[in-house]
Amino acid sequence: MTTPQARIIELPKILDERGNLSFIEGSNHLPFDIRRTYWIYDVPGGMFRHGHAFRTQQEFIVALSGSFDVVVNDGTGETRYHMARSYYGLYLPAMTWRSIDNFSTNSVVLVLSSSDYCADDYIRDFEQFKQMKA
Ligand code: TYD
Repeated sequence: MTTPQARIIELPKILDERGNLSFIEGSNHLPFDIRRTYWIYDVPGGMFRHGHAFRTQQEFIVALSGSFDVVVNDGTGETRYHMARSYYGLYLPAMTWRSIDNFSTNSVVLVLSSSDYCADDYIRDFEQFKQMKA
């Protein structure tokens, strides 16, 4: 079995002159069932979210409004994803280090997660993460 990779997933887009519409059906569009949803908003200029990884949790991140960058490290190298439209998102498998920066004004980060919040699922030390991936 191959290890799942971080990747952009395109969402359905219903174009309409009244305003476009996109949607996510957990089991149809994502490789996990959605258990929890949270969002990050009112981000002050120049702010960033420190990096961490999850032992078991999978995530899908959408720029609902504005833009930001998700910097991803799977243990072999770093990739910067610029998230700027709400009709695609970034899938992150478990054991993926990620941080978020370069927030635009009024950006909203929507995160769909495969599990309930669990502080013990976080890995906050990058050296420990790299050792676990080795
Ligand atoms: P956290 O995920 O630690 O943010 P970051 O790693 O970017 O600093 O979340 C910040 C705080 O919010 C933390 O005290 C826990 C709380 N929190 C919840 O209670 N439930 C949640 O679903 C999330 C995502 C965070």
